[in-house]
Amino acid sequence: ALARLVDEALTRRERGAAAVSKPMTGRPEDTSVGFVLSAPRSGSTLLRLMLSAHPALFCPPELFLLDHASMADWQADDFSDFYRDGLVRAVMAAAELDYAAALARVEALVAADASTAEVYDLLRGQPGLLLVDKTPTYALGMACLQRAEQLFDRPRYVGLVRHPLAVIESFVRNRLDRIRRVRGDPHELGERYWVQCNHNVLAFGEQIGAERFRLVHYEDLVRDPEPVLTGVCAHLGVAYDAAVLDPYGRGRMFGGPGDPNIHRRGKIDPELADAWRSVSLPRPLGHEARELATRLGYVLPAED
Ligand code: A3P
Repeated sequence: ALARLVDEALTRRERGAAAVSKPMTGRPEDTSVGFVLSAPRSGSTLLRLMLSAHPALFCPPELFLLDHASMADWQADDFSDFYRDGLVRAVMAAAELDYAAALARVEALVAADASTAEVYDLLRGQPGLLLVDKTPTYALGMACLQRAEQLFDRPRYVGLVRHPLAVIESFVRNRLDRIRRVRGDPHELGERYWVQCNHNVLAFGEQIGAERFRLVHYEDLVRDPEPVLTGVCAHLGVAYDAAVLDPYGRGRMFGGPGDPNIHRRGKIDPELADAWRSVSLPRPLGHEARELATRLGYVLPAED
């Protein structure tokens, strides 16, 4: 099943085609929530901004909800307040509140120890809007991914993957080890994050199946966004809207956690698809990373 998911994504790339998802079958699916799953530094903020430009999609900054059982748990997590800002901004938009009122709403949810499901209900209650939650920490744990299946009725997923050399270099340059407060050699941690997240995303995608899980390569997205986004829109069950090609347009939700450099780019930069070619890591990639990268169709430099 995994080989089929990857093959399908790579065949789409070869054909330059936006294969349309199969029609829904069996019991009805949840059309109010979907997820973008990836390792950090895979271009997920860019994809979020693209999707948030669509009038039928609500794709707020990172929420960190699914990896917590309830709001007391969310509040107790060892991440900085900056990471809590994504939910505040999402509540602002969903409940049409100003920042102070949205913050007070979030604080009240924490005080009441509201369940994660209750908070999702608040965010996905907007008629005609599909909430797309893109939070890269979800992919770190299979239990977290499984929670999406428990909380929602067969939601749809987009798995976003990127070349490991580009992801690890970006992880180290942006000091994600410090931001995430993890100790150890940053290159080793970057590689471990890439392996763990991508391994989980693929294993989960394999379990979900191609009907509800679609694999996207970052490199395809930035080189030729239109066919990729046409396919992603169809997969999420919304009509294609060319606004998704304009992630830097007026009124996009830029603030909150995510890529801190996103503002600076100003346009979709296709050259970053080849960023990995000029990366030289201090040590060769380990066996697991090499194997996973090859399965994803990535070319790797020969080992010294
Ligand atoms: P760098 O800025 O370190 O190169 P994520 O949002 O998942 O954390 O991924 C961040 C990465 O997405 C960036 O890492 C960059 O490579 C890529 N990216 C951000 N904005 C982009 C844009 N406008 N065009 C192409 N790639 C972009």
